[in-house]
Amino acid sequence: MASAQRWSRRQCRRFGNGRGGPITQILEVQDLKTVFHTHDGVIHAVNGISFNLAEGELLAVVGESGSGKSVAMMSLMQLLPSPPAEIASGRVLFQDRDLVKLSASQIRQVRGARIGFVFQDPMTSLNPVFTVGYQIMEPLREHMGLNRKQARRRAAELLELVGIPAPEKRLDDYPHQFSGGMRQRVVIAIALACDPKVLIADEPTTALDVTVQAQILELVRDLRQKLGMAIIWITHDLGVAAGIADRVIVMYGGQVVERANVRDLFDNPQHPYTRALLDSLPGRHEAGERLRSIAGQPPLLLREPSSCPFAPRCSHAFDRCLQKNPRLIEAEDEHYVACWWNPLTEGARNVA
Ligand SMILES: Nc1ncnc2c1ncn2[C@@H]1O[C@H](COP(=O)(O)OP(=O)(O)O)[C@@H](O)[C@H]1O
Ligand SMILES: [Mg+2]
Repeated sequence: MASAQRWSRRQCRRFGNGRGGPITQILEVQDLKTVFHTHDGVIHAVNGISFNLAEGELLAVVGESGSGKSVAMMSLMQLLPSPPAEIASGRVLFQDRDLVKLSASQIRQVRGARIGFVFQDPMTSLNPVFTVGYQIMEPLREHMGLNRKQARRRAAELLELVGIPAPEKRLDDYPHQFSGGMRQRVVIAIALACDPKVLIADEPTTALDVTVQAQILELVRDLRQKLGMAIIWITHDLGVAAGIADRVIVMYGGQVVERANVRDLFDNPQHPYTRALLDSLPGRHEAGERLRSIAGQPPLLLREPSSCPFAPRCSHAFDRCLQKNPRLIEAEDEHYVACWWNPLTEGARNVA
């Protein structure tokens, strides 16, 4: 049972699954590397990331724009055109299969039915020439074998589930007849149509205004309660992650630099990058003070990093940071960090 590895007792105590039993891992990503072959050279967009996702868990993936969040998650589902993209190494274990090794038709089955995807811009997921009803019914007929009538009834239920008023009537409307927030609800309904085990949402609220953003977040919280699926929520906003996640992965320069449960990450951030992200959150400042952003530029990813990718922007960097890229280590119980600097001692970490 490669993909359903049982968690250790310590992990179970920590997270629990509400039923007192062990937690089942539904997705395991191991050392995933994705590159792009471009005219300017090879871009190392994702450099060996690893993480697990437990059943029913909400995992947030945070990091600045360009840190490799989308490329990583699209790689899981083979959603990137190849070329230019190439999954250079790694395994993605899901229901006893390595998704990286599946053929195009096999991965299409997984994509449509077992893992739902919601992108930032709902218009890229919706086809403007078909009614939303048709677009929700399509996967229901293809993957669930429903007939027209059954699919239509289920599609109306799904629209109701995501909070669209008068769902029966709205099935015959086209995407442009919905507001931005309502369109994103439609996309979520499509992603949920076949009752997926995992929902991956890539900055699904970024294109929406703040009020609508809050409504969508509320919807996802509610859906998770009702449906119990695992969710990977990609965001550049740590504040959003704090509001919904169980665990958080912080990415920088195509790597995971910190991974912890949400409370530990916020109470006790270990990586200087996470600390800088937290410092730039509104609410951590005096009124009128400008939002601090992190000085400097994210790394160009034209070669695999041999030093810490954050070192050039890091106020704690010392010689070792420029010589060797730190591995992700368990600094505290279930709290992982890739950094040579130890915030406790304000000195070097005692690791090889
Ligand atoms: N089609 C592409 N060709 C070349 N480089 C790409 C392509 N798509 C993404 N990248 C590069 O991969 C890196 C990670 O991008 P991305 O995953 O989109 O970041 P994020 O989602 O964290 O904002 C960036 O440096 C980006 O320029
Ligand atoms: Mg992105």
